[in-house]
Amino acid sequence: MTHLTVNGMAHEVDAAPDTALLYVLRNDLELNGPKYGCGLGECGTCTVLIDGVAARSCVIPVDGCVGRDIVTLEGLGTRERPDPVQAAFIDEQAAQCGYCLNGMIMSVKALLLRSPRPSEREVTEALRYNLCRCGAHVEILRAAMRAAGLAVEAQA
Ligand code: FES
Repeated sequence: MTHLTVNGMAHEVDAAPDTALLYVLRNDLELNGPKYGCGLGECGTCTVLIDGVAARSCVIPVDGCVGRDIVTLEGLGTRERPDPVQAAFIDEQAAQCGYCLNGMIMSVKALLLRSPRPSEREVTEALRYNLCRCGAHVEILRAAMRAAGLAVEAQA
């Protein structure tokens, strides 16, 4: 058994040590916020926070997550009380198909945890390796800036 702490709750999962964290989250814990995209650590749609840092759960073995604080999209907020990053994405309607949104939101959250007032350049750097095939980048950037409290300055 592998002991994990996810969204503040302790779990025991029966998974081979080299199983990707993404599969455990989705298949064992029914946390479907993180998505499977490339499975190679390149698209960002599987992003979660591990000890407050954005991490690609498709390439991280579950064994390496023991004793660490894992947060998924489900752990940020609720429908009634969304996290400010989630609220900003809703306010800006920053999605088209929505498949990349988990990675975008979790990456912005990680950025704001380490840099609460980032520059626009920092925001674009933080999202540089999160892919969006719909081309919703303008809305996504606007949502990220809004979440950082920079929307007014950015659009002035
Ligand atoms: Fe993990 Fe693409 S599915 S980075």
